[in-house]
Amino acid sequence: MKNRSFMYQAWLGDIENKTQTFKVVGDSTADFAMEECKHGLGNLATDNGNVTVNLATAENLPAEGFSIVGKPDDITITGGDKIGLLYGVYKFLALLRQNIDTTNISLNDKPTVDKRILNHWDNIDGSIERGYAGNSLFFRNDQLHFDADRLRDYARLLASVGINQICLNNVNVYLESAKLITEEKLPDLAKVADIFRPFGIRLIIAVHFESPVLLGGIKTADPLDEKVAEWWQNATKTVYKYIPDLVGFLMKADSEFRSGPASMGRTQAEGARPIAKALKPFGGVIYWRCFIYNCMQDWRDTETDRPKAAYDYFYPLDGKFEDNVILQVKHGPSDFQVREPNSPLLGAMQHTPQNMELQITQEYTGQQKDLYALAVQWDEVLEHPITETQTTRDIIGTDNKIIALSAVANVGDDENWTGHLLAQANLYAFARLAWNPKQTPKQLTQEWIACTFGNNLKLLEPLTEMILQSRAVYEKYNAPLGIGWMVNIHHHYGPSVDGYEYMKWGTYHRADTKEIGVDRTAAGTGYTTQYQPYVRDMYENLTTCPQDMLLYFHRLPYDYKLKEGKTLIQHIYDTHFEGVEGVEEFIKTWDSLKDFMPQVAHESVKERFVMQLENAKEWRDVVNSYFFRKTGIADEKGRKFYL
Ligand code: GCU
Repeated sequence: MKNRSFMYQAWLGDIENKTQTFKVVGDSTADFAMEECKHGLGNLATDNGNVTVNLATAENLPAEGFSIVGKPDDITITGGDKIGLLYGVYKFLALLRQNIDTTNISLNDKPTVDKRILNHWDNIDGSIERGYAGNSLFFRNDQLHFDADRLRDYARLLASVGINQICLNNVNVYLESAKLITEEKLPDLAKVADIFRPFGIRLIIAVHFESPVLLGGIKTADPLDEKVAEWWQNATKTVYKYIPDLVGFLMKADSEFRSGPASMGRTQAEGARPIAKALKPFGGVIYWRCFIYNCMQDWRDTETDRPKAAYDYFYPLDGKFEDNVILQVKHGPSDFQVREPNSPLLGAMQHTPQNMELQITQEYTGQQKDLYALAVQWDEVLEHPITETQTTRDIIGTDNKIIALSAVANVGDDENWTGHLLAQANLYAFARLAWNPKQTPKQLTQEWIACTFGNNLKLLEPLTEMILQSRAVYEKYNAPLGIGWMVNIHHHYGPSVDGYEYMKWGTYHRADTKEIGVDRTAAGTGYTTQYQPYVRDMYENLTTCPQDMLLYFHRLPYDYKLKEGKTLIQHIYDTHFEGVEGVEEFIKTWDSLKDFMPQVAHESVKERFVMQLENAKEWRDVVNSYFFRKTGIADEKGRKFYL
């Protein structure tokens, strides 16, 4: 680690400790944890250190759990198993990084969820779908291709925050990546599994629904066909020969032109069955994505409403899935927009376990050019009610309805992993939330800052404040009041108000000269009725519908008076000016933090802020000009709008 640059080390950088040196000792279960502990301590680990670090495992602690007990010259870290011990070691190192005194410490910790998953959308040619941090760490030219040292660093980075499952390949599986489950690619994939294994991270493989046809030469992929079932059994057996601890498969079927059971007149439960059965003898699971909707909608069709689709498809199938099928549900019913309600499918099913999918890569949230604190948004996702007395956070846990948390990775081969250095905070926050969804955005942000830049209050306070503000600032210059989209088509960066408005994707704001928004109430598309009564009523009613989601649920005239007395149109104008001002403030704050970090780090983020300011101004001008032109209503403050 010592020869790595600051950018590369991320939150695992050097520990500065002027008073302590450490002698690391351990029992026979502690070999790898000892290595990792010494590695993290760097020069501070010596055979005659003045503090002894004792590492051991003990059966009375839960799997993956650990305890740390500190005395002035003696620290004992105990894990419920080898991986728990490793997590304990990383926690200890993180405390030292933050300059937190460990001499009197006594803590116990264990994960809330035992499936904490990163989904890479890496293509086997080396590109990354929706990737903004370089190329793939795993693939090039249709092959597995990696630098083993860098992968080990990556595994350490992820394990240090508790990630324990990873899917390397994109959910959009094409012929070459479909071959990851064949003898052609498995020997190399097994080498990656070997690198991740000691860090407690197991692989998932995204598979193609038509694999029996593409790889097996069978005429159909019909899940009710016996030959298909047999093909999956044999293929799965081969996979487990190479990777015996594989978690299982991930499937995107019947979604955005991917084939699936629906195209064969079968249900999603029937589609998943032969694959789930093939995985069962090996203890494997299949994560089955629920991102299904009509992606060939005619914009004139106002009956079809994309957010309703997942619930319509899956809810009636509750109880019909094999017990090793876990439904992977995007947190919102649209697609990782800046603001949307939670999917009504989350928590609705009584007999089918779920995996809530978040997106760390900033597809719609600034593409790692703009600063955007996802922790703030995820906190709202977790607080979203299921019933009057229950939030989404309450139904997450290994023995609960949402038994897994996954997120689309924001990592590539850029030196600092995430392109925008501060976007590391999003990766960090996801992993820590998956470990314990009760942590607040402030805690997570402060921890990341202190681990990365050191625990200097002069930096910690303004930087925390800036990062926490960044979601609100971005939202201000984006699409108004929860309506979403308005992005340039295909690549999704920058504004285009009507970009998707007349397209097939079902993503409409339906602005005309008088009104904007979609009526999703019972009297409209009926989407609200998919929620349980408390949530349904909250969104139905204009007075209880959260203001920032008004246009997601209601169609309103531009002169509609918002709570603070402002008209909707004036709100649009004002927020778009405020958004730009917010970015200008960020730049001032960032400039004032120059002396607290290496120059290279400061400059790289400054470059991103320059791009963000340009983006914010473009959003302001495009959105405001569009609505001024459409409505003819002047800005009360008489500001000029340019395109
Ligand atoms: C979005 C995204 C696609 C991705 C899809 C998915 O539509 O733009 O790139 O494949 O989500 O989650 O499957």
